[in-house]
Amino acid sequence: MNSTDKKAFSRRRRELMRLMEDGLAIIPTAPTQVRSRDTYYRFRADSDFYYLTGFAEPEAVAVLVPGRPQGEFLLFCRERDPEREAWDGQRAGLDGAREIFGADDAFPIADIADIVPGLLENREKVFAAMGRYPEFDQRLLKWVNDVRSKSRAGVSAPAEFVELSHLLHELRLVKKPEEIKRMRRAARIAALAHIRAMRACLPGMTEYQIQAELEYEFLRGGAEAPAYESIVAGGANACVLHYVDNRMELKDGELLLIDAGCEVDCYASDITRTFPVNGRFSGEQRAVYEVVLASQKAAIDVVKAGAHWNEPHEAAVAVLTDGLRELGILKGDTDGLIEKEAYKDYYWHRTGHWLGMDVHDVGDYKVDGEWRVLEPGMVLTVEPGLYITEGSKADERWWNIGIRIEDDALVTTGAADILSSDAPKAPVDVEALVGSGVQ
Ligand code: GLY
Ligand code: MN
Ligand code: MN
Repeated sequence: MNSTDKKAFSRRRRELMRLMEDGLAIIPTAPTQVRSRDTYYRFRADSDFYYLTGFAEPEAVAVLVPGRPQGEFLLFCRERDPEREAWDGQRAGLDGAREIFGADDAFPIADIADIVPGLLENREKVFAAMGRYPEFDQRLLKWVNDVRSKSRAGVSAPAEFVELSHLLHELRLVKKPEEIKRMRRAARIAALAHIRAMRACLPGMTEYQIQAELEYEFLRGGAEAPAYESIVAGGANACVLHYVDNRMELKDGELLLIDAGCEVDCYASDITRTFPVNGRFSGEQRAVYEVVLASQKAAIDVVKAGAHWNEPHEAAVAVLTDGLRELGILKGDTDGLIEKEAYKDYYWHRTGHWLGMDVHDVGDYKVDGEWRVLEPGMVLTVEPGLYITEGSKADERWWNIGIRIEDDALVTTGAADILSSDAPKAPVDVEALVGSGVQ
């Protein structure tokens, strides 16, 4: 970790501790997950834990104790162990926790039950993410009970558990420059991956072959992993929002919807593009595509500081509804159709979500019952779509057209900064790329 990053993590901890007053925060990283029998999924740190520490090893817990004279940031982690390190790779160890990650104090993770109860003594509040890791919750409750049992010795136990996310997720919602840098890179790599997928695509290929092209580009670009299971959905599969089977053949005349993003240093990108498998939109496909593209533009146009969370969705719904009416798929006047939510037969998800360390990132969408007002530094997706399933009320010629276009938008005081703008979406650009071949 370089000194700039070290300072950034330290700043985040200070910011959180200022809000906590005299509470204590305890933040475990994620547990490792068995994939099958004795093999594990690749470890991914808990986002809250990583946001505050930059520490990517498993079996670690951070404790923040504002005002503690011997040091406010404690890190429990694995000790160095040459034998284990020969199998699993290098560990920071206790010295590394202090020297590399800036912990004021570091302890073996095996000693946590002996140390945490003492830290809880005479603290008013404990900040923790209750319910996220139930096994850890049980241990924490036991430690608090251990302190309670000492009340006759004049020790007081915390009287209040406070949900850590109320404070921490507000901080995570507004991205700092060093976070935006990573998100821009994740979006750039994912955009190149979408371009590669378009170039590679030919009728007769399979969804998984296109997935391989995408994920090749993620890794080649330096991303650690896909940010979520890549959705590579040909033809009717595009109407299944979270289709991840990716086993079908891609057919001449069909569309291919790809929703795929990657993770850089625990920051996600999330991009969707839809294009014709053979490189030429049919009349119907092109007509629906133009409606979705126009709705996305309308939504992006209202993403700016001062607008409220739902404005992009409202803008997208208005254009989608009007477009469906113009295509003859919906009948009636646009305002009435919007009021009746007639568009929901063809568009049943929302137009976006927060984006950050988690692909569906943290942060409330309403504050005191009102839609949240957008602020510079917030990042959201803008992802309208239309999905005309077989058997729907639309005329048969529209069936199995599923189109979504998704970009990642950074809120500024002016026009939104589209982090994913390198991924082409104008029909002419898309048509020129599809099937043109990968280097
Ligand atoms: N890729 C999941 C989403 O777009 O929300
Ligand atoms: Mn997506
Ligand atoms: Mn999304």
